[in-house]
Amino acid sequence: MAKECVIAGNWKMYKTSAEAVEFIEAFSPKVKGCKNKIFLSVPFTAIEAAAKAAEGTNIVIGAQNMHDAQEGAFTGEIAGRMLVAAGAKFVILGHSERRHVFGETSQFINRKLKRALDEGLRPILCVGETYEERESGRTEEVLTQQIKESIGRLRSLKDLIVAYEPVWAIGTGHTATPEIAQQQHAFIRKLVGDRPILYGGSVKPDNAGELLAQPDVDGLLVGGASLKPETFGEIVCTYSTT
Ligand code: PGA
Repeated sequence: MAKECVIAGNWKMYKTSAEAVEFIEAFSPKVKGCKNKIFLSVPFTAIEAAAKAAEGTNIVIGAQNMHDAQEGAFTGEIAGRMLVAAGAKFVILGHSERRHVFGETSQFINRKLKRALDEGLRPILCVGETYEERESGRTEEVLTQQIKESIGRLRSLKDLIVAYEPVWAIGTGHTATPEIAQQQHAFIRKLVGDRPILYGGSVKPDNAGELLAQPDVDGLLVGGASLKPETFGEIVCTYSTT
């Protein structure tokens, strides 16, 4: 029997709310009946419209980031409770673009994780090493540190999803080989137990199947290839139909 996977799309800073609705209208018939869990992480401004458009479908809408405070004087930030009110069910936290472009630390991500769980949002925690860290043999040290610091002192890990996203594979076309993905997922498994572990980094329709076939790959986090209903639909249905 095929395993049930979580296939999550991460739209990053792409699509207005009208474009999000257009996408969902084209995408939902393609994935109707697919057994995989389908998550779509859309820009803040598209959450409400996307959640409405996805009502009655098997698509779950979420966000890409949030602040750790319940509310407050944080110009330009967004609170978890605002995401929930807009219709988000999950949130990506600690994406490498947040860590490396915006300087987010694992301590900050840890506080966000706590807040997300308190607000009832399912967190997808992203971890991953840079090319230099891999080349210098520090991959497992980096993953251990990121995970331990990000999940430290959480009351429950029950709803946690982890995404292994090697930074060198994100948006570069250099997907990790299925062997590398399996090796790192097995390592992460030792730290987070039976929580779902997704792979992310240049996932495309032609490599999704071999990645999902690895025993410790429980799903995928897809950036660029989630922007078109055709390609994302193909990825979502690849494994569940086997
Ligand atoms: P990519 O992005 O699929 O475009 O490499 C993945 C991600 O950043 O989540």
